[in-house]
Amino acid sequence: MTSSEIRQRFIDFFAKRGHAVLPSASLVPKNDPSVLFNTAGMQPLVPYLMGQPHPLGTRLVSAQKCVRTGDIEEVGNHKNLTFFEMLGNWSLGDYFKEDAIKWSFEFLTSKEEGLGLDPKRLYITVFEGDDNAPRDMEAVEIWKQYVPENRIYFLPAKNNWWSPGDNGPCGPDTEMFYDVTPQGLGDLTHEQYVAADDIGTVVEIWNDVFMQYEKRDGAVIGKLAQKNVDTGSGLERVSMLAQGKTNVYEADMFAPVMALLRQHSQNYTERDARIVADHLRTALFLTADGVLPSNKDQGYILRRIIRRAVLKLKFLQADPIIASQIIDHYIAFYGDVYPEVAQEGLRMVMKVEEEKFEKTLIAGLKEFEKGIDPFTLATTYGFPIEITEELGLERGILVNRKMFDEQMKAHQELSRKGAEQKFKGGLADTSEKTTRLHTAHHLLLAALQKVLGPEVHQRGSNITEERLRIDFSFDRKMTDEEKTEVERLVNSWITTDHKVCRREMPRIEAEQLGAEMEFGAKYPDVVSVYVIENDQGEAISKEFCGGPHVEHTAELGTFKIQKEEAVAAGIRRIKATLA
Ligand code: ALA
Repeated sequence: MTSSEIRQRFIDFFAKRGHAVLPSASLVPKNDPSVLFNTAGMQPLVPYLMGQPHPLGTRLVSAQKCVRTGDIEEVGNHKNLTFFEMLGNWSLGDYFKEDAIKWSFEFLTSKEEGLGLDPKRLYITVFEGDDNAPRDMEAVEIWKQYVPENRIYFLPAKNNWWSPGDNGPCGPDTEMFYDVTPQGLGDLTHEQYVAADDIGTVVEIWNDVFMQYEKRDGAVIGKLAQKNVDTGSGLERVSMLAQGKTNVYEADMFAPVMALLRQHSQNYTERDARIVADHLRTALFLTADGVLPSNKDQGYILRRIIRRAVLKLKFLQADPIIASQIIDHYIAFYGDVYPEVAQEGLRMVMKVEEEKFEKTLIAGLKEFEKGIDPFTLATTYGFPIEITEELGLERGILVNRKMFDEQMKAHQELSRKGAEQKFKGGLADTSEKTTRLHTAHHLLLAALQKVLGPEVHQRGSNITEERLRIDFSFDRKMTDEEKTEVERLVNSWITTDHKVCRREMPRIEAEQLGAEMEFGAKYPDVVSVYVIENDQGEAISKEFCGGPHVEHTAELGTFKIQKEEAVAAGIRRIKATLA
């Protein structure tokens, strides 16, 4: 059975049972800034799970495009993927455990309407109970109609309580696992079952969440007004099983890609090939939904994924045409169901990214030769640790990977804190006009340095809705020509349109980057740096700044200097506006 047939069977199965069919939403959530991507089929349905009536009724079914990058390091094993399709059915205060479990079992095992999987290979987990909710005996009683009781295991909230994050609908769940060993595992004790899950001889194939509770700031605060069901089953995983395979890369969407990589790589390794197969597919779906590589949010993830794929292709010593052939395969494979993938976006994006990455590698290599440590190479120069390790090997230098991993972890933790702060205020309560002037302020400083010399630095600033004001070090009155040239430069950067990117980093790193900072100002240990880059990837401006800023310089309008005057010895002041 092809994955395409499985997707259709799933939709038909639930449509026949009164479920309205929803199209997949975009990978980028439309109205939810708390997540970068849809990570589950339920994400676009949160308001309805919380009680708002859905226009299509109380029973819904979909195949939803999802991206999860939390376990990106696992990709390359037999089952983890960064992009996947989640098959799901929902009850919004309609049916509950009885029907949800019955239909899951029927779909998995029915030869006529479902996947025809072997019920003797199924293992079930249910919630063992805690202060928030009781042990789920109700689910056990229902499951006993379909599987022997000794194949049902109680597990704690860590395994069997599902929520999309720290806030929103949640509840205990029951999960279905399938035995993927050739000989079959048979009956397993609790410990044997847990071990089988750890080593991957059983694989999770479906999750039924009984969403009856609500979480706020990480704590369960009580029951929702309605009892919902939220289910999710990974299409790639069930395809692998229905097609009698033991790893997802042998399923039909990946098998031809793996064959291409095997055939056209001089230095083939299974893990690197799997990472390429996974990452290029994810990159295709992300660009199809309008994401472009950048240094923040969705764009940053896309850039990382593309660069990792490019790096792995280098390691594989793959034929340069291979990436394009892989993209062709995915477009042909998915074009019918997801017409948005049939475009040239990814190929163009890849070309630009490959060139930029090449530059990064060259710059990083120079620094490596100067003896710069792996952490700085990675965070400041975007130089992948795998390359540092390889170069180290060639030159007999041992890279301390453990130390690197620890430094990266601390770094990510700092960035995460910074990102959280971003959502607490900032952009939301600042007017558009002020935001535009903030960005214009950065362009102005960059233009002053170009026209008057690099010794010009900011000494003070003040922004209102009407105008910006900058005080800067310079020891004479500007000529009219200089003012006109500054205006012209700023306006040219506005009309060519450059992206404004925000990066969180330790202050020391930002200083090493040479980011502009205000003399005498105090900065915290972790700072955000705003970078405005031209198409060659060179920074027009980089400044320590808390923001807020527009995302594109084209949003600014026309820049005009109102006044240039002296404020103190060696300090000039400019007031300027945007129209
Ligand atoms: N939302 C549930 C999950 O993602 C079904 O596992």
